[in-house]
Amino acid sequence: MKLDNLRTLAAGAQDRAILDLFEHSADRARIFSASTGDLLFDYSKTQLDTTIRDALIQLCDEADLADRREAMFSGTKINETEGRAVLHTALRNLDGGPVEVDGLDVMPDVLDTLQRMRVFAEEVRGGAVIGAGGSFTDVVNIGIGGSDLGPVMATHALSPYHDGPRLHYVSNVDGAHIADTLRQLDPTRTLVIVASKTFTTIETMTNARTARAWMTEGGGDPATQFAAVSTALDKTQAFGIPENRVFGFADWVGGRYSVWGPVGLPVMIAVGSNAFDAFLRGGQAMDVHFRAADWGENMPVMLALVGIWHRQVLGHASRAVLPYDQRLLRLAAYFQQLEMESNGKSVAMDGAALAVPSGPVVWGEPGTNGQHAFYQLIHQGTDVIPCEFMVAAEGHEPELSHHHRLLLANCLAQSEALMRGRSLPEARQRMAAKGLEGAELERQARHRVFSGNRPSTTLIYPKLTPFVLGQIIALYEHRVFVEGVLLGINSFDQWGVELGKELATSLGPIVEGEESASEKDGSTAALVAYVVRHRD
Ligand code: F6P
Repeated sequence: MKLDNLRTLAAGAQDRAILDLFEHSADRARIFSASTGDLLFDYSKTQLDTTIRDALIQLCDEADLADRREAMFSGTKINETEGRAVLHTALRNLDGGPVEVDGLDVMPDVLDTLQRMRVFAEEVRGGAVIGAGGSFTDVVNIGIGGSDLGPVMATHALSPYHDGPRLHYVSNVDGAHIADTLRQLDPTRTLVIVASKTFTTIETMTNARTARAWMTEGGGDPATQFAAVSTALDKTQAFGIPENRVFGFADWVGGRYSVWGPVGLPVMIAVGSNAFDAFLRGGQAMDVHFRAADWGENMPVMLALVGIWHRQVLGHASRAVLPYDQRLLRLAAYFQQLEMESNGKSVAMDGAALAVPSGPVVWGEPGTNGQHAFYQLIHQGTDVIPCEFMVAAEGHEPELSHHHRLLLANCLAQSEALMRGRSLPEARQRMAAKGLEGAELERQARHRVFSGNRPSTTLIYPKLTPFVLGQIIALYEHRVFVEGVLLGINSFDQWGVELGKELATSLGPIVEGEESASEKDGSTAALVAYVVRHRD
């Protein structure tokens, strides 16, 4: 079964009423869902039927998914364009056996670094390690992309567990970011973590140097108040960060998959090593499920197949991630990098042009906020946008449980509304009840029609604990992996970010006014001329 054949098999499927599918099968919600631990993934509010689902599942065997999956877990160099293994799963392999790369077991190093992180994090939290002015009140993490988005997302998500120093994240090279952050801090009681896999990223290194100057000028001591997280130990040393403050990891951890290891250090300092361990255990539990469950019961696989169905079969260009969980406010940004940097490719692993669309645009905001912003288009726009809802059965504020009930009701209402819609006769009836008639009734009614039949999925979990967060993040990582395997692409490189970086380097001296823009295109040259005219 190729994707093309699947399109033929699925012809007309998107027009059939999802509600009718429920009428034909009393058990649909159970049949079209997957669970693991306490997580439930409901994909019954889609147009999938068992025939199409079977055909989608067949894709997994045809793509040798089982072999590819084991190749990833066992350290084969599946990132072929960079010649690297893909082993972020080893970072959460707390009880697992050896994992070999090039014949060497990587687990002793992984566990040793984890233990050093635990000790350091607890020393910072407990005041055993201090700055020039006393115990650390604040931690600033300087990093970008995967060295920022994961820890930022997790710090927000786990705020009920945050009992360590205050955390701040600086990513943008825009001086506004670091200026606004440092302005409020005491340079003698601030710990700076420079997080960069390569330790060459221009934004991070520029911000790190600015932070170091700020600390020195303010009476702090960079020699004892800086730590680094990187794979490039020669570069951290050249920057002047002492060896005992460097937490290394290997090149087989992709930036966007790195929150599980040293890149998660700020999170560990915030919530403590026990809570961080629980996060790792959640990820590990999802790994165990992913490796063992049959395709049809396998949550990451089914999440991926629903993704393939909506994007590659039905052609929907984007999908919305809609957590009804305020603390997941950076989850969509995190998934944007995870999914779009991984599967936004138009060349297959063998170099041939991809015959099907690449991964979709991923975007979103927490509910209920999004309802008052962009849901209008999701309900009545001309494009169908599959929605991925997420919600906890209970919140962290028992005294505010009435808020949580409202949150839940809104989340469930949205997926129901997308599916059910409102027909023209129903809209007419409502207008008639308001006393309208004739042409005006007809005109007003048409604006109040909801086509309905818009697909969505819901991931529901008991409560947003560190363990559950680990499950959710690993679930989406494996979803991206499965989609990548089915598309035949390399989900673990990111060559698409290189050209812009190269051109930014060549534009540096031009923007500085040291070189002429005459070799640039007319638009770029005119924009540079504007900048030169308008700056002091
Ligand atoms: O430019 C993209 C990228 O390479 C991401 O893949 C990565 O997460 C980010 O930059 C930051 O890279 P580093 O951790 O090496 O500073």
